[in-house]
Amino acid sequence: MARVLVLFAHPAFERSRVHRALVPAARSVPGVTFRDLYELYPDYDVDPPSEQAALEAHDAVVFQHPFYWYSVPPLLKQWQDLVLEHGWAYGHSGTALRGKSVMHAISAGGGEDAYAAAGYNRYALPDLLRPLEATVRLCGMEWRAPFIVYGTHRLPAAGLAEEAERYRAQLEALATGSTTPLGVEA
Ligand SMILES: Cc1cc2nc3c(=O)[nH]c(=O)nc-3n(C[C@H](O)[C@H](O)[C@H](O)COP(=O)(O)O)c2cc1C
Repeated sequence: MARVLVLFAHPAFERSRVHRALVPAARSVPGVTFRDLYELYPDYDVDPPSEQAALEAHDAVVFQHPFYWYSVPPLLKQWQDLVLEHGWAYGHSGTALRGKSVMHAISAGGGEDAYAAAGYNRYALPDLLRPLEATVRLCGMEWRAPFIVYGTHRLPAAGLAEEAERYRAQLEALATGSTTPLGVEA
């Protein structure tokens, strides 16, 4: 079993519908450690040693967050800037993260049809994640296909429950090693 670390970042969880449904699903999967970054660091004072220790103790990392301006919420950017240190995460002697898997679990207000060349967002959502993918690969980690919930504003309660179940199954597959990294033949 892979040890899976879910790093959750939602700046307004009290108003959330989607992650409100996804969080219990994540917490229910055996072998998953759940860390709520906004709860741990309400003042953005991310502690690199604790975060690095958590990463070292796991085989796979899931960044769970809403899509904000085609990117991550600000605390997650702060986390990247402080935790992914040269000489630890990357660089000549920076090998701590090598071989770990990374998956983003994202909710997006826009529908899947909007995330296309002819849609109003112009690009597919996975293409907009390239800077995150490049970061993961620079650190020697394996990029997994993202888990995406589209069209959050129009998602009915039944749809939320279905997405939570799909997320639970995806995390279980990550924990049992039954998914393969993108770019690697199955
Ligand atoms: C500051 C801000 C920026 C946002 N940017 C985007 C965006 O770039 N693309 C998109 O599809 N939705 C965007 N949204 C919508 C959120 O992604 C959406 O409300 C959220 O994923 C719903 O999840 P929740 O119910 O857990 O809050 C944005 C929302 C906010 C508040």
